[in-house]
Amino acid sequence: MFPKNCWYVAAHAHEVTASLFARTLLNQAVIFWRTPDGAIAALEDRCPHRLVPLSTGKTVNGLVECGYHGLRFDAEGACAFVPGQDQTPKNVNVKKFPVAERHALVWIWMGEASLADEDLIPDMHWMDAPGWRATTGYLHFNADYRLVNDNLLDLSHETYIHKHTIGNDAVADAPVVTEVIDDRVVRAHREMPNIDPPPFFALAQGHDGRINRWQIAIYMAPGFNMTEVGFHAVGTDRVDDHLMMRPIHLITPETDHTSHYIWGLARNFRLDDDELHENIYTSTQQTFSEDRELLEMQDCRLQEEGMPKLPQMAVKVDKAPVTGRRLLDAMIQRETADPSYCAVPALLADDGIVTQPFAQAAE
Ligand code: FES
Ligand SMILES: [Fe+2]
Repeated sequence: MFPKNCWYVAAHAHEVTASLFARTLLNQAVIFWRTPDGAIAALEDRCPHRLVPLSTGKTVNGLVECGYHGLRFDAEGACAFVPGQDQTPKNVNVKKFPVAERHALVWIWMGEASLADEDLIPDMHWMDAPGWRATTGYLHFNADYRLVNDNLLDLSHETYIHKHTIGNDAVADAPVVTEVIDDRVVRAHREMPNIDPPPFFALAQGHDGRINRWQIAIYMAPGFNMTEVGFHAVGTDRVDDHLMMRPIHLITPETDHTSHYIWGLARNFRLDDDELHENIYTSTQQTFSEDRELLEMQDCRLQEEGMPKLPQMAVKVDKAPVTGRRLLDAMIQRETADPSYCAVPALLADDGIVTQPFAQAAE
């Protein structure tokens, strides 16, 4: 269901502290903590003594102490202390996962550890780059991560699910151009000229005058999504006067039917406006909660019906999500055929280019 030889986002960097942080990823329970030098450690959440979760315990002087009998383990997974005895058992190691901290995110490699290469971490620099400010949040979805990706590649749903924040009729009415960028990335592009601003856009521009809006849903398998959201007031210049937001949706499977939705919404305007920052948080959590409500019902129904293939009938808006699934399936197949295969990440978007209205006919 998911490729393993690639980096996944486990958490926002600020979530991992000197205390234990437990999270299940790709059906494996993991604990994270920061050692006294600030580095992040990640071990399987399983005590090798009597197999209780290590997350029952706590950290002590940079070691993790099991909550049952107090054995302590270091960041390498080695046993460093046993209460009541001087000797510590050798050759007893808790499984350790490669981790990295980049772009204000914690990354984890759940596959073959010897293949973990930090050069393969996707570029998410908008999360902490100069000139951008990201509002961040987290939601837990009781839904297959693939359904979440599907949803993010078909944004016609904004008209129906998100009419109180980012959607209005213009979204579903606008034609979409779908492009495969490489073997990991697909983009679905919509232009919405001269439309009324949905509530979130009125909030962002500070008034409710009409806008020219564009939206590009970009997906990189297995679970990296960015929506390039650009707009400018009608009568102003697209290149000089646009405002840009990059909602970044990092979808990491927890189990086959549950997902972590780790998000950041980076903007390149009103960087010092803390009130806007708070409003973006509230509005975005609301928006993604609306997706969650629907996707959880969908996953439940799919399980009841024995996981039938989707879509059951094809309409134009399915093109991008169906293409995204094809890229993901191919990535999994390549890894299955060659366990040493690692997919190379592609560029999600280029800050140097303000997307121009597409020239080719929309499909
Ligand atoms: S089960 Fe962990 S110390 Fe005994
Ligand atoms: Fe949505």
